[in-house]
Amino acid sequence: MDNKVNAVKLLVTGGAGYIGSHTVASLLTNGHDVTILDDLSNSTASSIRGIEQVSGRSPHLVVGDIRDGECLDRILRGGDFGGVLHFAGLKAVGESVRHPARYYSVNVGGSIELLAAMRRHNVRRLVFSSSATVYDTEAEMPLQESSPSGHPGHAYGRSKQMVEQILTDEVGSDPSLAVAVLRYFNPVGAHPEAALGEAPTGTPNNLVPYIAQVAAGIRPYLEVYGGDYPTPDGTGMRDYVHVMDLARGHVLALDFLCAHGGLHKWNLGAGRAYSVLEVVKAFELARGQQIPYRITGRRPGDAASYWADVGKAARELRWTPQYTLEDMVRHAWAWQQVLARRV
Ligand code: NAD
Ligand code: UFG
Repeated sequence: MDNKVNAVKLLVTGGAGYIGSHTVASLLTNGHDVTILDDLSNSTASSIRGIEQVSGRSPHLVVGDIRDGECLDRILRGGDFGGVLHFAGLKAVGESVRHPARYYSVNVGGSIELLAAMRRHNVRRLVFSSSATVYDTEAEMPLQESSPSGHPGHAYGRSKQMVEQILTDEVGSDPSLAVAVLRYFNPVGAHPEAALGEAPTGTPNNLVPYIAQVAAGIRPYLEVYGGDYPTPDGTGMRDYVHVMDLARGHVLALDFLCAHGGLHKWNLGAGRAYSVLEVVKAFELARGQQIPYRITGRRPGDAASYWADVGKAARELRWTPQYTLEDMVRHAWAWQQVLARRV
């Protein structure tokens, strides 16, 4: 259930994307006014219709690049922006290995451009989309916000670490800037009304969208990357969190910044891990049919198992995830059926 808070005028970068669109719907439902800046490089304007359908309100969409300072000026010049939620970025780990400069340009360069524009227009609150990829996944579990940083073997992970460092330095130099760094674990699922969800182009990189395409008959079987991990069933384990829970986390983080200011880091995960085969099993139950799979070799760079300690978000934001794994896969499947009808 969303709570009413004082309405704030917000810029949401990447608000047409997967996590951004669910969050925009939540922000609008909570009475905030939203301008989205998105270049639609990994989304379409159809997510705006989905946002309108579930929230009954319309965000203002500006199609543009976060690295375009003049575009940011045109938006922020209107004044009165109470904050920015910064989702825009590139997120495919493998692609970041092939095109590192592109990832640093968008993820790091884009964040720097945004921070400069926020300074020019005196916008003093920022919620940033970080990732569990910043952690050392060999550290003691569950991962806390104070757990050691890792050394990600890809530009994507390093770009998130760099932006976190830049934000820490910015707040250090200007304590009037308030920043929430949200470290997502594995976001999955879709809006319960199947009006919003993830629409991967090409072959999905991530487990749940891949399973959904197998379930829909688009792909013949799932490759399970590794059956010899030191986990109960030998397959990798992750902390899957419903995108609706993430969206609510952003509303609460913004609320917290409005009340307290400062720099804060919060894990957003479910606080427990499921194996690949447990996710497959849950999907089979949701779909009522078997998901064909083959166990293959490990995917390079994958950790065996990690999950979040979400106690800090529970204590400080009063955020606890409400959706179960069963909800996550049921909603992912309902959304996959909507996507299939669109083709
Ligand atoms: P997404 O690709 O669905 O959304 C990102 C949006 O940003 C897209 O709509 C895209 O068109 C837009 N965009 C990309 N480059 C842009 C640019 N230069 N200028 C303006 N807009 C641009 O991804 P998502 O899953 O919603 O992820 C949102 C954020 O969360 C990203 O920063 C991502 O790194 C982070 N994150 C995602 C995950 C995940 O598994 N989905 C996990 C951890 C962190
Ligand atoms: N997996 C398969 N087959 C697939 C896809 C995935 O077996 O076709 C397995 C992986 O080996 C892993 C689990 O399913 O054990 C989850 O894999 P995902 O690709 O869905 O997610 P990751 O945990 O690898 O990565 C995600 C995001 C990254 C982010 C990272 C942080 O995609 O952006 O979480 O934890 F950095």
